[in-house]
Amino acid sequence: MRAPISRRTAMQGSGAFALLAAAPGQAATPTAQAPIRLHLNENPHGPSDHAKQAMQAAMSDGWAYDNEDVFALRRMIAAKEGLKPENVIITEGSTELLRIAGLAFARGKNIVAGLPTFLAMMQYATRNGGEVEWVNLDSDMRLDLNAMEAKVTDKTGAVYICNPNNPTGTAVDAGRLRKFIESVSKRALVLVDEAYIDLADDPEHMTMIDQVKLGRNVLIAQTFSKIHGMAGLRVGYGLARADIIKRLEDLRMSVPNRMGLRAALASYQDIEFLDYSRSMVRSCVSFTCQFLDSMKLKYIPTQTNFVLFDAGRSSVEFASHLRGKFILVNPQLDPLSTWVRVSMGRMEHMEAFAAATRDFFKKA
Ligand SMILES: Cc1ncc(COP(=O)(O)O)c(C=O)c1O
Repeated sequence: MRAPISRRTAMQGSGAFALLAAAPGQAATPTAQAPIRLHLNENPHGPSDHAKQAMQAAMSDGWAYDNEDVFALRRMIAAKEGLKPENVIITEGSTELLRIAGLAFARGKNIVAGLPTFLAMMQYATRNGGEVEWVNLDSDMRLDLNAMEAKVTDKTGAVYICNPNNPTGTAVDAGRLRKFIESVSKRALVLVDEAYIDLADDPEHMTMIDQVKLGRNVLIAQTFSKIHGMAGLRVGYGLARADIIKRLEDLRMSVPNRMGLRAALASYQDIEFLDYSRSMVRSCVSFTCQFLDSMKLKYIPTQTNFVLFDAGRSSVEFASHLRGKFILVNPQLDPLSTWVRVSMGRMEHMEAFAAATRDFFKKA
């Protein structure tokens, strides 16, 4: 999904799509029923107008099964990435991909994973006969690739690399990761979760898709949930050697629904929208970091649409204060029990977050 960036002009929802645009969580004044959602790393700047138009047009085709759009999306992604359709699997969000990868590669084996990281693959694997070897992040809150490599044994089925990592927003050096893959993929599948890569500083250099082209034992996970703003439409995908894709296809449950597929087809190469989405997220990141600086709260520089900061007090207490104002954030647990992850919403949401945070510390 890497593409040159163009400047976006106006992307206002037209009257015809006003209903689709009025999603809960985007309301200016939050309520218990429609809180400001800064807890799940969603992106309220999407879906794009083209995606909404495609869904509108697809409504009356809802009666038919939809294998054609799955194939069309595989072809489109493969063509853009210089791969073949058999190197692409389309899943119900990348969560389904992470789960079936855990089943395919870690049943009766272990997954080596950083801590903290995004847990979907490991939680599912441990419920289904797999184990996890956790490896703490390094002192810069980055995945510790040396320590992770040291944990790989003949019991290891897969290594999970979330890059950039959730919940820290940090990325590992791309050159170092390439070397890691070259070595570790001889012993286990390396799954690189690139859910946030299009929001990172240099996605072209950071992506490990070149490792698929080299035929390595590697699986890249990407999603339409983040920069495309389509989390509720549930479309994700994986890129890998054809034999790896085949193993995953054998375990998949279903395919995404027609609305999600048509929206994905319309959004995938919508450079103008992707540029807009990225610039909105970056403005919110810059506002949020300036605000945290003004409050003298420590945070981790981010390559994503969320910021992890140290509230210096119980993260649960902080989150509960904000919940009282109908603003949802994500409190971290031990050993980061004073840290909070806040996702980037619309600018007015970040202003509301700032006001509620100021209020919390005034009362403290
Ligand atoms: C790192 C990472 N990977 C994957 C996902 C899952 O996204 P989805 O299933 O919506 O594609 C998320 C969701 O927050 C995430 O943070």
